Amino acid sequence: MKQWTQEERYRVLQSPDEIKDLHERNAQSIWRQTYHVQPVTGLSSDPNGFGYWNGTWHLFYQWCPWGAVHGLKYWYHVSSPDLVHWTNLGIGLKPDTIYDNKGNHSGSAIPEGDNLYLFYTGNHRDENWVRTPYTCVAKMDADGTITKNAEPLFGPRDDYEEHQRDPKVFWVEEKQMYYIFIGAMTMDKKGCVLVYHSKELLSGWSFAGQLSVPGYEDFGGMWECPCIQNISGKDVLLFSPQYTTLPGRGNSTNHNVYLVGKMDYDTLTFIPEGPYEFLDYGFDFYAAQLASNVGDPDKAIIIGWIGLPDNHYPSEEDEWEGTMIVPRELTLQDAHLISRPVDAVKDLRQEEITPDGTLPNACDIELTVSGDLHLALFTKDGEGGFTVDYDQSTHTVTADKSKMALRFNEQVFEQLTFTLRKPLKSLRMLIDSCSVELFFNDGEETFTAHAYPTKEEHGYSVDGADELHIWPLTAAVKDDFVV
Ligand code: FRU
Repeated sequence: MKQWTQEERYRVLQSPDEIKDLHERNAQSIWRQTYHVQPVTGLSSDPNGFGYWNGTWHLFYQWCPWGAVHGLKYWYHVSSPDLVHWTNLGIGLKPDTIYDNKGNHSGSAIPEGDNLYLFYTGNHRDENWVRTPYTCVAKMDADGTITKNAEPLFGPRDDYEEHQRDPKVFWVEEKQMYYIFIGAMTMDKKGCVLVYHSKELLSGWSFAGQLSVPGYEDFGGMWECPCIQNISGKDVLLFSPQYTTLPGRGNSTNHNVYLVGKMDYDTLTFIPEGPYEFLDYGFDFYAAQLASNVGDPDKAIIIGWIGLPDNHYPSEEDEWEGTMIVPRELTLQDAHLISRPVDAVKDLRQEEITPDGTLPNACDIELTVSGDLHLALFTKDGEGGFTVDYDQSTHTVTADKSKMALRFNEQVFEQLTFTLRKPLKSLRMLIDSCSVELFFNDGEETFTAHAYPTKEEHGYSVDGADELHIWPLTAAVKDDFVV
């Protein structure tokens, strides 16, 4: 694996020509995705600035142009009419001011008037590599031109650690105010959310206080990418706690959880009505955020990064890494999120094929079950693969990727077991060149993971399905070189 110097990782891109060859090399990779947003070159991580505006879905992702490495981060811009067909639009934000000299870190978007406003973290570092995170804003106007505000909205607080980032901006009707949630770490290294508010979107921001979440005073060391939305009358708080292990999650120290409850903006308290739940049970799911401006009080649209910080993936050999999930529609049922791929994925379905033990490179599979289920994806000569076993007596599912030829992140986890809320009746699987997304019981539970099959690993076996349907999917993401 390539060893990167700090200088290489943090080089500023001067011209697209510098990465044109890399794009061509990346495009040769057998794991290039066909209907998942992936980096134009190099590395993509968190989704950013996701929302519906002017009749189009806009999404940005954390992008490091140079290769499969976390370094200088840009916001790369893609758009879609339907959340499934995505087009590359080029750089959205680049590190070109003193406030973001070492990267445009994560954030969110809010439409107002004719513009979409992008709220992001300016990652400043001085010559001694001491970090100062700024909360910044840029305006995208109707013709897509993005202009940064010259000055940040506010800088960091000095009574918290330097980890203060990932602004989630939103309007609170009952308070007639805008709010920003910032992911942060207290001086005694506990994860939390800092709350800011303002009557105006672009000025007048003041610190309102630290969000109190009873029972979660000591839950991870930093809460990355916080997000909140009301769905069907209940508040849903998402965040990605890090620097801690959690039961059932192997040795991973990065998680993505949610709480359902009631947000009180007078006392800045979020009262959970039940325990936290994982947004997804898979090996690789992180930094999810909800789209702004969905326009339906009963649903949210979520997007997340298929990947984890500090983990390494086989596509690094091909000089790229990271992809997004297919956006999912979230609804609330008994204070539990139901998560289903957006309907438009079905438009990609080609004619259903007769199951013959060969897995199409990109496909949508649905099966029904009434007892135990054993399935293996990406087998070679009927052996190995990524296995999923359901045990009817305990309602548990075990996913195991250790039997694939290319193993990775073995020390974090290769096998996970989780319990379904109800007996398994159905399973849907979205498979692309290097990812699998599993939807149990119509989205009651989901499991997202990277898998890197070799050319020989394209078989599958299913034992225990009553019905099995397989649709190859048409490519939907253009891999054009637009920078
Ligand atoms: C989460 C994260 C964010 C940060 C960004 C930098 O993966 O660490 O907290 O803004 O990535 O790329």
